[in-house]
Amino acid sequence: MAAPTDLERWLDTEFLDLNTGLEEAYFAARTEIVYDVADLDRRRRVLRDDGAALVRRLTGAGGGDPYVLLGAVGLYLAACRRHEVAAPEDAQAVAGRLGLALGVAPRFVFAHLSTHNPASRTFTRLPDEATFVTGNGLAVLAYQRAAAALRRVPHVTAALAGSLFDEALAALDAVLAASRDLAARLDRDRFFLNVRPYVKPHPVCGVEYRGANAGDFAAVTEIDLALGLCDLADPFYQRIVAEKYPYVPPEDQRRLRTPPADLLAFVERHGRHTGKFLAVCRAHGAAYAFHHHRLVLPFLAGPAAAMPPDRLARVTASGPPLDVVLADLRRLVDLRAARDRPGTAHDRLARLRDTTGDMTDTTKAGSPRLPATSNL
Ligand code: HEM
Repeated sequence: MAAPTDLERWLDTEFLDLNTGLEEAYFAARTEIVYDVADLDRRRRVLRDDGAALVRRLTGAGGGDPYVLLGAVGLYLAACRRHEVAAPEDAQAVAGRLGLALGVAPRFVFAHLSTHNPASRTFTRLPDEATFVTGNGLAVLAYQRAAAALRRVPHVTAALAGSLFDEALAALDAVLAASRDLAARLDRDRFFLNVRPYVKPHPVCGVEYRGANAGDFAAVTEIDLALGLCDLADPFYQRIVAEKYPYVPPEDQRRLRTPPADLLAFVERHGRHTGKFLAVCRAHGAAYAFHHHRLVLPFLAGPAAAMPPDRLARVTASGPPLDVVLADLRRLVDLRAARDRPGTAHDRLARLRDTTGDMTDTTKAGSPRLPATSNL
């Protein structure tokens, strides 16, 4: 591992102290940010100016992983946005240069806090941030295990394919377990007031880049396509994937460019492992329905309802109004849970189920794998 830059040393010390202190002051006032308090204004300026001085000194010749370095600069820019102090344009330009060289959005994304974060860097020392990042990260790793298993299915013998479907099922069950654990442990107010504000959209050299979310990986898309639940010919879904592309790590971009084999067509054709295949579909739908009903609604939509209208307009990570984001996420639940709606895989899965005598309906609220309160 390359020696840390001065920027990285600062991120691991003063940056953490400044953010944590500011968050405690905001939380004590039970608000997202506190204006017009001289001491807090001073601390925000220190964060902006000390960070900018260190970012400017990066030459790109350090020999470290440039994607990790983009994460370091990105954390600084996201913290400036969170505390509503504009990062100087020449510091923004350093992120722009790194992003351009890598072919990714020039900002921090969730990968920089999880799968591409060898220094275990965070914004604050708050336990709630650690809970959020670890919970999301465990779900991401599990999605990646499921995608890896499904990717191999077309290449192995029929006898081995069954074992890969079992692996995918166990991994998707682990996504649901990690999400359940997160929902149980994360404090809603702390998340809303002190964690969520770091993943907001922000400009880099005049271009606004949308915020980070735990979906910025190829694995979820690979699973959608491998299971035949989503289709790149569907304009809605194509927009979701194309929009995600700049925000995933470079190796995931390669995966998004080469979609996996359609295993639904494969299972339909060969009539093998249909029961296991349907179980994997159920688990994928259940994990994503949980995301919507037990994470997005209670941790974001609920608290947002109490926000003043000017702040509500800017509450989502992606930027569009909350109701637009929620409608998109609801459509993704319909697709992933193969609900009985136009354009979903509902009818194909129902036919498959009929041919196998599998009586568990992937698509109905009574399915044992869907969360009890799901209104699907
Ligand atoms: C408190 C926890 C969470 C909240 C409040 C939350 C909220 C959201 C929101 C609001 C979006 C839409 C982004 C936007 O356009 O603004 C989103 C996207 C997404 N989140 Fe979460 N999320 C949470 C945890 C997780 C976890 C644990 C996972 C599992 C890896 C996850 C996976 C995704 C995926 C896959 C997307 C992108 C949409 C897609 O491609 O399907 N999220 N999340």
